[in-house]
Amino acid sequence: MFHIEKKQNFQNKEGYFIIGVFQEGEKFGEWFSKLDDSFQNHLRELVKSGDISGKKKAVSVIHTFGWIGAKRLLFVGLGQRKKMTKEDLVESFGAAFQTVKKNRGDSLAIDLQSFITARVDPLTVAKLAAESFILSTYTFKGYKQKENKPDVEIEKFTVYYDGNEEEIKKALVTGYIYGRATNSARTLVNTPSNLLTADHLAKYAKMLADRYGFECEILEKEDMEKLGMGALLAVNQGSENPPKLIVLKYQGRKEWKNVIGLVGKGITFDTGGYSLKPRDGLVNMKTDMGGAAAVLGAMEIIGERKPEQNVVAVIPSTDNMISGKAFKPDDVITSMSGKTIEVLNTDAEGRLVLADGITYAKQHGADVLVDVATLTGGVIVALGSDKTGAITNDEALLEKIIDASKETGEMIWQLPLTEKDREKVRNSKIADLNNSPSREGHAIMGGAFIGEFAEDTPWVHLDIAGTSIVKSGYELGPAGATGVMVRTLATFVEEFSENNE
Ligand code: BES
Ligand code: ZN
Ligand code: ZN
Repeated sequence: MFHIEKKQNFQNKEGYFIIGVFQEGEKFGEWFSKLDDSFQNHLRELVKSGDISGKKKAVSVIHTFGWIGAKRLLFVGLGQRKKMTKEDLVESFGAAFQTVKKNRGDSLAIDLQSFITARVDPLTVAKLAAESFILSTYTFKGYKQKENKPDVEIEKFTVYYDGNEEEIKKALVTGYIYGRATNSARTLVNTPSNLLTADHLAKYAKMLADRYGFECEILEKEDMEKLGMGALLAVNQGSENPPKLIVLKYQGRKEWKNVIGLVGKGITFDTGGYSLKPRDGLVNMKTDMGGAAAVLGAMEIIGERKPEQNVVAVIPSTDNMISGKAFKPDDVITSMSGKTIEVLNTDAEGRLVLADGITYAKQHGADVLVDVATLTGGVIVALGSDKTGAITNDEALLEKIIDASKETGEMIWQLPLTEKDREKVRNSKIADLNNSPSREGHAIMGGAFIGEFAEDTPWVHLDIAGTSIVKSGYELGPAGATGVMVRTLATFVEEFSENNE
């Protein structure tokens, strides 16, 4: 799909030729002047009149009437040159690519040079161009009998840049891999729960394992019973679908030491159980496996890029349903760790399945733990739907994850976890822990509870309840699943390996 060309002689044929423009005060460079020559200097008039705008994300399309090879020029505004961040660049790319998609273009080219600034180097621009192309043009196919429009795919993506071709190519492929894995996670999350059960999730993981040579282990209900995974089993009790504990191991080092454990909440549908959700709260609960999808997406990137790191991915998966067999408030259950839990709320099920997932990851050598979960509505109230909430017992580990998130533009914000918070989840007259002390600070309570199972192992909890889906389309994708944390987790793993020789 990607082509790299050194020179743009303006004769090459493509549907859309995309050029970045900065706002105000920029002299027309030599290159622009050359292009403008082909247009009898009308382009600079359009810039002056504002028809070609440098405002952030502004898209101006001009038909070339055959004056150059490309059918259309697409100018995308980047704001002020000095201020342009990677996030700005990505959003502008997204706006440009979505315009091409909407207009049903089938090929495009970008002039890389026009996007480069002192802050954002050519390889970063190339990576982000490919990544935001894959992300911004994503669609979930859905199940309509008839699609109104036949699909037009953008099949050719040309990059004009007079630099090191190999390096640019590598950067493009990296962006492509990151984008594609994020889209894989999006598709898992967008798939309804009648079509995506724990079993489907397990088969998907197995498929990844076959493709990338991961070790794959799927624990069945009987295995869980033997291991005493009473917390995961309790959540599954009301279900017609058997639970699965999905384990993928990627060994990127000689020895199975220094292992990162990624644990993803894989609730394929969350009714709340007997602590039933209100009817509006049920809609979209097919997305309650967003943590699992993030982990699987990250594993896809890891499989492609093979960093020198050991990773164990653990996904406890089931739906949370009601029946005569379902677990109930007041039940006391025994987790795999041996800790007993008084269930005060069956809707606080994520922390229960994660408890056993974390214990399992630790037993399989995880030296650091990151759990990802659509855990609480509380995190949305606290941070809105653009920030992932984080809780940790190890500030240095969280810092590494936040560093990774700054690379990917997926915002993470830390919530506190105090000794008093810990005491609240330890407060039960009849068990070691309770799963839902109160609604006060309940995003923190969720973290506090999971932390009891991480114990002394460095651990970060990421609550993606707010960030895993969006209500309406945005520059990097349509309404629905965002694939949040796929890129941050993968970046974290890659950087962890670099800093851990
Ligand atoms: N899956 C939900 C959290 C959630 C809410 C995700 C909204 C996405 C959007 C989780 O299992 C849950 O129900 N949490 C409860 C916790 C409470 C019972 C302590 C919540 O947030 O209300
Ligand atoms: Zn719930
Ligand atoms: Zn849930």
